[in-house]
Amino acid sequence: MNAGPNIPSQLIDQHGRRKRKLRISLTDRCNFRCRYCMPDTPQWLPKSQVLTIEEIVRVARLMIGEGIGHIRLTGGEPLLRRGLLDVVRALDALRPLGLTRISMTSNASRLAPQAAALKAAGLDDLNISLDSVDPDTFRRMTGRELAPVVDGIDAARAAGLPVKLNSVLLRDDNGGQIVALAEWARARGLPLRFIEYMPLDEPGRWQRAQVVAEAEILAALRGRFGVEPLPRSADPATRYRLDGDYEVGVISTVSNPFCASCDRLRLTATGELYTCLFATQGTPLRERLRAGDSDAQLLERIRDAVWHKQAGYAAQPRAPLERPITMHAMGG
Ligand code: GTP
Ligand code: 5AD
Ligand code: SF4
Repeated sequence: MNAGPNIPSQLIDQHGRRKRKLRISLTDRCNFRCRYCMPDTPQWLPKSQVLTIEEIVRVARLMIGEGIGHIRLTGGEPLLRRGLLDVVRALDALRPLGLTRISMTSNASRLAPQAAALKAAGLDDLNISLDSVDPDTFRRMTGRELAPVVDGIDAARAAGLPVKLNSVLLRDDNGGQIVALAEWARARGLPLRFIEYMPLDEPGRWQRAQVVAEAEILAALRGRFGVEPLPRSADPATRYRLDGDYEVGVISTVSNPFCASCDRLRLTATGELYTCLFATQGTPLRERLRAGDSDAQLLERIRDAVWHKQAGYAAQPRAPLERPITMHAMGG
């Protein structure tokens, strides 16, 4: 039986949180080298371990039937995935089952030539990482150039794709550029979220001293703008209005975790279902898909994994000690 568009999620965890969003990592590969996200020498996954488009779409279809309404494509860098347009088209065809939104999180450096085709394939919107609008800081943080990213942002808007910007703040890199980022984004009418640096990069690298916490972000913004808090939505960001006419968000996992309202799940490129960004292991689905499990068998495995979802970072605020995966392979 098909799930109707407004079916409540059947995926519920032991803490009573229903799952409505699925983040699908299409590849662990990335053409950027952000140190807060990946090791210095990443070991890319062999292709044989990466889910095929058919496998991805099958898992997506099953989970939409359980009430997932929003899918976000991530990476690594999703624009590097061969067949990306086919994935988007195939997901677009699942809307009658209840999928209402297809989003993507990207570094945008290769977006300009693909933006219009992505829109035509069915993509609804994009979140784009932009840690600095100063070319030198940008290069230091990502190892790559700023200009193609700005071109990507412009192309997305020209193609009619709404864009939100993400800035991960690192004290010694872009920590002093909060107002500059907000002014740049405001001048273009682009929503911006500041993100607290989370301990999900190369093990041992994260330092609390590098985190710019929400309170400090707000203090910097207050030096330049009138700042008014807005009611919280299901978005991971706390929202603020600046000078009455522009909105920014702060994703404050470290200083103010929002796990109580967590409605997401993550599927890695290798087909592991992670129920939390900080989980130390995922539930492998790839072997089951390739062994010929029925839809019912797969769903039982998925429901069981979701039910056992832990409380999250709020309940255990520290870097996972033993973790087989860093942020670039989790997809953020
Ligand atoms: P929206 O659908 O626009 O709300 O997107 P999003 O913010 O969920 O996705 P995006 O990929 O833009 O992620 C922005 C930042 O939020 C990244 O640093 C993510 O790792 C982080 N993030 C996204 N979802 C969660 C979550 O459930 N928990 C935590 N702790 N961080 C999250
Ligand atoms: N802490 C916070 N956000 C991170 N991202 C990547 N690594 C980290 C981290 N350690 C963000 C990226 C992107 C999103 C997918 O995750 O900047 O916007
Ligand atoms: Fe959800 Fe885990 Fe993030 Fe908490 S830390 S909001 S439980 S993904």
